[in-house]
Amino acid sequence: MVYFPSVVALLALVSTAHAWDGPSYSGFKVVWQDSFNGGSGESPNSGNWNLITGHLGYNNELETYTSSTRNVQIRGGATVQIVPWQDGSVQGGWSSGRMESKYVFTPTAGGVTRAEAQIRFGTNSIDRKQGIWPAFWMLGDALRHGVGWPDCGEVDALETINGRLTGYGTVHCDVNPGGICNEGSGIGGNIGIPDQGWHTWRVDFDRRSGNWRDHSITWYMDGTQFHQVTGDRINNEGVWNRLCHSPLYFILNVAVGGTWPGNPNDSTQDGYGSMMEVAYVAHYTD
Ligand SMILES: *[C@@H]1O[C@H](CO)[C@@H](O)[C@H](O)[C@H]1NC(C)=O
Repeated sequence: MVYFPSVVALLALVSTAHAWDGPSYSGFKVVWQDSFNGGSGESPNSGNWNLITGHLGYNNELETYTSSTRNVQIRGGATVQIVPWQDGSVQGGWSSGRMESKYVFTPTAGGVTRAEAQIRFGTNSIDRKQGIWPAFWMLGDALRHGVGWPDCGEVDALETINGRLTGYGTVHCDVNPGGICNEGSGIGGNIGIPDQGWHTWRVDFDRRSGNWRDHSITWYMDGTQFHQVTGDRINNEGVWNRLCHSPLYFILNVAVGGTWPGNPNDSTQDGYGSMMEVAYVAHYTD
């Protein structure tokens, strides 16, 4: 009984090494997902993702994004790793990764649309992550078609800063500064994260009601709700449309430094220990 199960377990590991899909949820079907199949050390599927490059200069962040597999790579176990490195040869002194989906989805009228990823963080201790800012989020596709930020709409499923075990979910909308979403803060909620290991981050867009004021966007970690914004709270149909009725795309990135987390300090460590690793990104409908 000792050997047989371990052989089975090994076979199971081998046979699932190329597929770590989003789970099936009763009443939902997967419309699109990337479970990051591929060989260890490869780039993510370029049919699915744009790898953003350069020093974007948002929020006073330091990182320069590159398309190098040093910063963004598939790991053999069917995940993608986004890895920040201290690098004196790039602007800001840090290189990192940011991937944006070519895939665009619109929350379905009359139903519930689910966006979900499973994520863990590198094992560096928390006091060695000052300035590290991983995120799984969505932007309104209008941004790619001439509409500015935050008018395009932004839905952040998960952000953490400085290694802290607090997950933030936020919407950004309307105008900056101020406006309906109180920019630059946005309308946010948060939840304690048990540990740096694998957890599931979900946003449900609920358009079941015939009345847009009753529509909602709801955030969950491992199935526990931690934030909700309704159409009624936004109280402006055009602004709500950008958040809950319009095409969105996925973003995975690790920023470094900037106004919110503050910059890295002498304790901050780079590399895999400060990475964000993602097992799948999935879009479901009911
Ligand atoms: C760096 O910042 C972290 C908080 O994020 C703190 O715990 C640590 O002591 C700081 N290290 C130095 C050298 O300032």
